[in-house]
Amino acid sequence: MTDTSRAAMLLEQLDHLNAQQLRRLLVEHLTKQKLGLYWEANAIERDAALNADLVLPRLVEEWSCAPSPLTPLPEGEGNKLPLRSGEGWGEGAFTHRNLIIEGDNYDSLRLLRATHAGKIRVIYIDPPYNTGNKDWVYNDHYVGANDRWRHSQWLEFLYRRLTLARDLLTPDGVILVSINDENRARLELLMDEVFPKMRLGSLVWRTKDTGNDLSQRFSHVHEHVLAYANAGFKFNGRATDRSKFRNPDKDTRGDWSPQPLTSNKTLIERKNTYYPIQDPDTGYWYPCDPDTVWRFSSEKEIRKRLNGDEVAIEAALKGLRSDTIEQLIEKKLIYFPPCKPSEVMQFASREELLAAIKAGKGPMLPKKKTPLLRADLPDLDFWVGKPIATGRPSRKEHWTAKPEEDRLAPLSSWIAGMNEEVAALSEYEDDEPLILRSARGGVATDEVKEALGSKSFPYPKPLSLIKGLLAQATHHHDIVLDFFAGSGTTGQAVLELNAEDASTGSAQVGQRRFILCSSTEANKKEPDKNLCRDVCAERMRRVIKGYGGKPGYTLEQGGEFAYLQLDKVEAADAHFEIDAAHAFQLLALKRLGVVCAASEGAVQRLGRVEDCELLVCNEVNAETIKTLAAWPQQHGVSRLAVYSTRHKTLSEQLAARGVEANCYSLMDALLSGQRGNAA
Ligand SMILES: C[S@@+](CC[C@H](N)C(=O)[O-])C[C@H]1O[C@@H](n2cnc3c(N)ncnc32)[C@H](O)[C@@H]1O
Repeated sequence: MTDTSRAAMLLEQLDHLNAQQLRRLLVEHLTKQKLGLYWEANAIERDAALNADLVLPRLVEEWSCAPSPLTPLPEGEGNKLPLRSGEGWGEGAFTHRNLIIEGDNYDSLRLLRATHAGKIRVIYIDPPYNTGNKDWVYNDHYVGANDRWRHSQWLEFLYRRLTLARDLLTPDGVILVSINDENRARLELLMDEVFPKMRLGSLVWRTKDTGNDLSQRFSHVHEHVLAYANAGFKFNGRATDRSKFRNPDKDTRGDWSPQPLTSNKTLIERKNTYYPIQDPDTGYWYPCDPDTVWRFSSEKEIRKRLNGDEVAIEAALKGLRSDTIEQLIEKKLIYFPPCKPSEVMQFASREELLAAIKAGKGPMLPKKKTPLLRADLPDLDFWVGKPIATGRPSRKEHWTAKPEEDRLAPLSSWIAGMNEEVAALSEYEDDEPLILRSARGGVATDEVKEALGSKSFPYPKPLSLIKGLLAQATHHHDIVLDFFAGSGTTGQAVLELNAEDASTGSAQVGQRRFILCSSTEANKKEPDKNLCRDVCAERMRRVIKGYGGKPGYTLEQGGEFAYLQLDKVEAADAHFEIDAAHAFQLLALKRLGVVCAASEGAVQRLGRVEDCELLVCNEVNAETIKTLAAWPQQHGVSRLAVYSTRHKTLSEQLAARGVEANCYSLMDALLSGQRGNAA
C-alpha cells in the first residue's frame, strides 16, 4: 500500500464519523499525553497473520525424531508419563516432549496459548532486527530501509506476538530478547508496554572483535539481551564456594569467609566513616582508603564529631542501622590478618612520611597497590609515630549466618568474550558478580555449517551465548520456548545443558524441554522453501544423532522431537472440520504437554494423571459405553475423564453403570483458549 492510498484510507475512515465523534477524537488527540512508545498501528496494513480462526496441531511423523529402537525413560521426577505404546496408544506410538512447530509464529503462539498458558518458564527470542536490509517479512513482502512504515510495521508485528507470549510465562517465568543497538530503545519501550513492571535489565554481548563500518564513524560491536520477568524469577547466579569458608583463628562459631569492610563511597562523599582502625591485640593501625571508606560507623568518631553532646550522641547511635566498628571488634567479627613486626611501617616525622608517600613507599592497598595515605589527606599528622600494618582488616561472615540458597553471586550484565580477561573488581571473590562468556557472532555461522554441512543460515546466534543464558535462567525441568527459532540454536543449547547436568555430577538429570517455532520462509519466488523442516528440524535431527565426532543425545537427555504443522479452521466450521486426530493432539498437548500419534478406534487413550485415565470417546454407542464401563477395572484406575461430543449422554450412561467418570464437552475443550484471537 502506498502512502497516498494509506492517507486516502484514513480520510475515508474519518468520513464515517459525525461532527460529535470528530470533535471527541480531536480533543483526545490534543489532550491525551502518552509517555513512551507510539506507533501508527492504524495507518499500516493489517498483519495478514492476525486471525480469529482456530489453530490445530497436526503431527508429521516422518519429519519428527523418535529414538529407534524405542526405549522407555527411567522413572523419575517430572517424568511420570509413559513414553511408548501401552493399551490405548497406537502400536509403537511414541510420546514426544519436545516440539518443533512449523508456520507463522503468530499461529504457533495462538496454539500455545491454548495449550501452554502459564507453563513456559523461559522464552528466548532473536527476532528479525528491522535493519532495513530486508531482513524480515510483513504480509509477504520484505521490509526495506525506504519503507515509510518500517518501524511501525515491525513494532506492530512484535507487539502482537509478545502479547500472546506474555500469557505463556509461569509466575516465575522470564523472557530474554536479543536485539541490536539501533533498535534496542524502540524494543525496550515496547517491552515496557507489554510487560509492565517486569523489566529486569539488559545484558550486553560483544558481537565482534573489530568494527567494520567506517562510514558511520562508530563501530557497532555489541548487542543487547533484554530481560523481563515475572515476580518469582531469579537468575541462578553462582553458588558460594563452601571451601572459601575457613577457620584460621579457630573461631568457635565455625568457618567464615572474609568480607570487605569498605563501602563504595569516597572520603568526599562520606567523611563520617573515614577513620583509622586499631587492632586491640597487636596495637597496629590500619588507615582508611580515601577512595572507599569504611562501611560501618565508629562510636568514637561520632563522639568526637558531636563534641560530647550526650543527647545528640545517643540519638545518632540509636539511628544506626548496623553495629559500630567498636561493637564488631568487641564481638570478634573483625579479622586482622597476621602482620610480622618486620613488615610494620612507622614514620618518625611528617617529613619522613611525606617522603615515603612521594617515593611510593607509604602504606598501600595490598592488591591494587594504590596509596592509602596521601599528602592532601586531613589526618596525615595522626600517622606520625604509629605502627601501621600492611594487610587489610575484614569482616567475618560465618557460614551459618544465612541459608545456603541465599548465598548467590548475582549475574553480571556484561557478557564477556571466551578469552576476554576480566579484571577482578575487588579483593573478595565472593563479592564478584558472575560473568557469562560467549563466542563472537561469526562463530555461530560455522557452528550451523558444522551441523548442517553445506547449508548456510544468516545470522544465527552462538551456541555459547544461548547456553550461557539458559544455564542462568532455567531449572532442570523447565520448558524453553523460542518462537523465532531460525536454525534451532536454542534447541541444541537445551540438549547440551541437559547432558552437562549429568557430567557436572548434578543430583538431577536435566530434562529441560524445547519448543521451537519456525516459519518456512516460503514466498512467491521460492514457494517450496521450508526453513523449519530443512534447517531447524534437520539441525536438531543431526544434533540428536551426533555429528562431526560429537556423540548425540539420549532419550533421557531429550533426544527427540515432534514436528507439528498447523491447520486452521474457521470457528463456524469447527464442528465439521476438526477431526479425531486434531482433537487428540490438541488435548494431549493441553492436558499432558506431549504429542503422540493418535490410535485408531472410537475410544482413544490420552494418558494418565495420578489415578485418572484421560480418554477421548469419538462415538457414543453401546460398544464404546461397554468399553468405558470396563476401563477402570481393566486398567487399574479409579477414575475416568472422558472428552466427547455427547458428553451429557455419556455421563448419564456411565453413572447408571456405577463408573466414576467426569465427561467433558470435546468442542468446549478444543475451543477454550482459542477464542478472542481477533486483532
Ligand atoms: C535472527 S533469526 C533467528 C536466529 C536464531 N536465533 C538462530 O540462532 O538460528 C530470526 C528468524 O525468525 C524467523 N521469522 C521471521 N518472522 C517469523 C514469523 N512470523 N514466524 C516465525 N518465524 C519468523 C526468520 O525466518 C528467521 O529465521
